Amino acid sequence: MINKLKSKDLLGTKDLSPEEILLILDTAESMKEISSRDIKKVPALRGKTIINLFYESSTRTRTSFEIAGKRLSADVVNISVSTSSVVKGETLKDTAKNLEAMNPDAVVIRHSSSGAPDFISKLLRCSVINAGDGAHEHPTQALLDLFTIREKKKEFKGLKVSIIGDIAHSRVARSNIYAMNKMGMNVTVSGPSTLIPVDIEKMGVKVFTDVKKAIEGADVIMMLRIQLERQEKGLFPSIREYSRLFGLNAEKLKNAKEDVIIMHPGPINRGVEISADVADGKYSLILDQVTNGVAVRMAVLHLLTGGV
Ligand code: CP
Repeated sequence: MINKLKSKDLLGTKDLSPEEILLILDTAESMKEISSRDIKKVPALRGKTIINLFYESSTRTRTSFEIAGKRLSADVVNISVSTSSVVKGETLKDTAKNLEAMNPDAVVIRHSSSGAPDFISKLLRCSVINAGDGAHEHPTQALLDLFTIREKKKEFKGLKVSIIGDIAHSRVARSNIYAMNKMGMNVTVSGPSTLIPVDIEKMGVKVFTDVKKAIEGADVIMMLRIQLERQEKGLFPSIREYSRLFGLNAEKLKNAKEDVIIMHPGPINRGVEISADVADGKYSLILDQVTNGVAVRMAVLHLLTGGV
């Protein structure tokens, strides 16, 4: 049993061992208890400074990291790129080095370019946490997804997971595929063939272009947001057709197992990839994922910044 992570950074689930994943999830169990208290604060990261550096919009991840840091008593600084010197042309390298000069303990970064967190992690002494980079990875999303699955299903081995939607552009799908395979789950991906990468099977997943087949026998269905700009690029014919063929609704759900759980990283397009009644229905864990995101990010911050 390990008690620390081997890297100073969390850049992806690809680099985590199964033991490290379990360490984060087990630590998050204790962190979740803190969030259920009347006074939701412990002094674990008192005196530590965490910078949230988001180059892309975010509701869940940015807020969740901020709440996580504050519940552990860290000082959390949010940098809005639109009001920073980035708009004056400052490079990512210069921004990162200037932030480092203020001696933070962790920089949490979201960026539209794959590899941006890895790039700054090599420049900075402090921990760098990937909060989503391009179509590459979103490790804390996958970890909170695993935490949510374990809460309901108790163990991972042998679970059948279907990830449905725009697999090609999804950092959530990639991080989940890496993490789920490591934990012994069987992953299937489904969606329009234009949105499924060639050779995805090499990542250890099965592919079904028929969503009904992907849903049959699944313990977990993870719907992905369809990025509406993809339609302009001709990657699927129309929103209506996408919804009819690949969207999850009550009718398609009749093919699912009785104890299936439905997940979505958010933000959701109601009525497109998931119908409102399914998103709000009894199988949906979408808001549990958000709740658990705080606990998982508390665990990651605590493990990386070495709280007392
Ligand atoms: N799941 C997720 O990354 O949501 P945000 O873009 O709102 O952070």
